[in-house]
Amino acid sequence: MRAIAIDEFGGNDRLELKDVADPKLGPDGVLIRIRGAGLNPVDHKIREGSLDAAFPHVFPLVLGWDAAGVVEAVGPAVVRFAPGDEVFAYCRKHFVGEGTYGEYVVVPEDFAAPKPESIDFVRASAVPLAALTAWQALVEATAVRAGETVLVHGAAGGVGAFAVQIARARGAQVIGTASSAKHDFLRDLGASEQIDYTEVDFVEAVRDSHPDGIHVVFDLFGGDTLRRSVDALADGGRIVSLAEPPVDDHFRQREIKPAYVFVRPSGSQLAELSRLIDGGEIRVELEASYPLAEAAQALERLETGRVQGKLALELE
Ligand SMILES: NC(=O)c1ccc[n+]([C@@H]2O[C@H](COP(=O)([O-])OP(=O)(O)OC[C@H]3O[C@@H](n4cnc5c(N)ncnc54)[C@H](OP(=O)(O)O)[C@@H]3O)[C@@H](O)[C@H]2O)c1
Repeated sequence: MRAIAIDEFGGNDRLELKDVADPKLGPDGVLIRIRGAGLNPVDHKIREGSLDAAFPHVFPLVLGWDAAGVVEAVGPAVVRFAPGDEVFAYCRKHFVGEGTYGEYVVVPEDFAAPKPESIDFVRASAVPLAALTAWQALVEATAVRAGETVLVHGAAGGVGAFAVQIARARGAQVIGTASSAKHDFLRDLGASEQIDYTEVDFVEAVRDSHPDGIHVVFDLFGGDTLRRSVDALADGGRIVSLAEPPVDDHFRQREIKPAYVFVRPSGSQLAELSRLIDGGEIRVELEASYPLAEAAQALERLETGRVQGKLALELE
């Protein structure tokens, strides 16, 4: 199959559009012909080799963990999908190399779900990793409830835009951080308060409007942002980080409950997200899409750290 692959770790100049072996279909696998491949920051971290210690890999290494497409074939033990089904999936495996920047991917059937009917393949491919991350952080790890207030850091980015909408769908009030140029975007997503983290101290801004503190913080950046976020929480508040485990005693003051999420594939959670998308409760914000051959340009844009919503690759 044709795919964007690397033969060694490095910059975007290592990406090559070339023929690689088709992925093999095992008994529990679903072979998907890919029509859209979503981009995530983990893709450039894998490309440059900075996650080499965390994941075994094979070269040629096809990048990409998100896909939407049409089921081409299924293994004999598969019961939920058949050829012709339109699906989307977060395709992370135990090793990196058989990714989604190519014509085909194989995933266990539990990773896949029917694609939302109201959006096309490219937009659908921008959903799985980012939306599952927000879901697992806000529904599983912190169990956000109606009436609570949630601070979402990085609210204008790929994960943050889903986090704002998932928190809203659960009846919470959302405060989002982003630079001012993106505040209209945050309002449209449903954030009732916006903080320009480049101009003001976010803890002071939260305490100004919520003197007793808020219920939940959703962190994507770790470091100082994560540590200082504790001061925005009310006693007994919850804080979830996607960047680093909040493990030391600083995160255990005042009955605060810290959590860390490393997103897992889940077809059943994707099916719930699909219903929210088709029901109009979650919009999929796509800043741009690129042909497969322009994966390097797409990754360059992603690496600026300034994307609004998501980026994805289009395949025929
Ligand atoms: N643990 C996990 O399983 C997991 C899963 C998914 C993602 N992640 C990690 O989460 C991070 C974000 O992922 P993503 O896909 O959302 O990235 P992204 O789409 O590239 O995020 C871009 C957005 O981040 C905003 N931003 C950058 N620095 C900020 C800051 N200090 N405060 C507030 N907003 C800031 C930018 O807005 P402005 O231009 O306004 O600054 C931009 O809109 C990445 O490091 C990723 O690896 C972890």
